Parts: sequence; structure tokens; C-alpha cells
Amino acid sequence: MKKENARLKAVNGIFEICLGINGVKKSFSVKNTEFLLDALRRHGYKSVKKGCDTGDCGSCTVIFNGKPALACLIPAFTAHGSEITTIEGLGTVQNPHPLQEAFVEAGAVQCGFCIPGMILSSKHLLDANPEPSEEEIRKYLDGNLCRCTGYVKQIQAVRMAAKRIKNGEKRFRGKAS
Ligand code: FES
Ligand code: FES
Repeated sequence: MKKENARLKAVNGIFEICLGINGVKKSFSVKNTEFLLDALRRHGYKSVKKGCDTGDCGSCTVIFNGKPALACLIPAFTAHGSEITTIEGLGTVQNPHPLQEAFVEAGAVQCGFCIPGMILSSKHLLDANPEPSEEEIRKYLDGNLCRCTGYVKQIQAVRMAAKRIKNGEKRFRGKAS
């Protein structure tokens, strides 16, 4: 989807924006003061979590035009013409992504609040670096905070998923994206 911010105009403080979310074209009305996190949640993408709301916790991470980004720091109107992936675009309960399987199997999910952002960051890491070392995973995920775990099982989960993706393994139905 092409970026067309230059042609956008607010009417009474409201922008009409078009964007692609998980491969589906969407139109949102957003306030000129609104951030993408709130716009996404208002439109039903509740997996994008509102933690700190100040760019510190990583729980609002989405893939924004191909890179992980913090939705709480992106003015919603600037997302016009963008492509966004949320965890809903990665897999489903019936057909989970290998990262989702691995996080569950490794016991890396406790309350789950940080998990969508952490998995999306991990997905971007594995796309760029299919066999990351533990140190590389730790470094890459250092912006995704978790208040429940000790950052051990999540690292194990990413390594497990990397191995399975490399070997083409799938525990449940469907294929990895
Ligand atoms: S809610 Fe965006 S970084 Fe915490
Ligand atoms: S599992 Fe609870 S915040 Fe990470």
C-alpha cells in the first residue's frame, strides 16, 4: 500500500486513513491526537497491548512496514498507506505459527500480556536471522519487557521455533507463514 500522507487532510480533527492490517485493507477514522495503539485497539485488535504507553515496555509492538515498531509512539494518521502485522496475522489457535507453538510448549507464557509483542519481535528476528544465538535473541528482545518470567523460557522458545522452522517441522496443523 503506497504512503500518501501528503494528501491527507484532517476534517474537524479527524483523519480518514487506509491501511493494510494482516493483509486486509482497512479504513479507519482517527483523531489527529490519537496514537496507532489506541486506534488499533478501538478497531478490535486487542492483542496489541497497552502497557506503559510511553515506548518503554514493548507490549504494543506490531510489524509496521516490515519492521517491529511501538504502536504507542506512532501518530495514527501517519499509518495511512502502511502495512501492519499484529499477532492475529501470524497464526490462529487451529493453525499457530511455530513461534506460538514453541512459546506455549516451552512454558514461556504466563499472564500472556507481553507475548504478542515478544512473538512479533521474534518473528522479525528469525526472518532476518534464522539461527540466532542466545545472545542475539536476548539482545533483540531487550525492548520487550515481561513482568512474569525470568527471560529464560522465552529464549528457549525462540530457539525451539528457529530449529523447527529450519527443519520444516510443525506440531499442529497448517504451515508456517
Ligand atoms: S505500551 Fe508501547 S512500549 Fe509500552
Ligand atoms: S507473561 Fe506476563 S508479562 Fe510476560
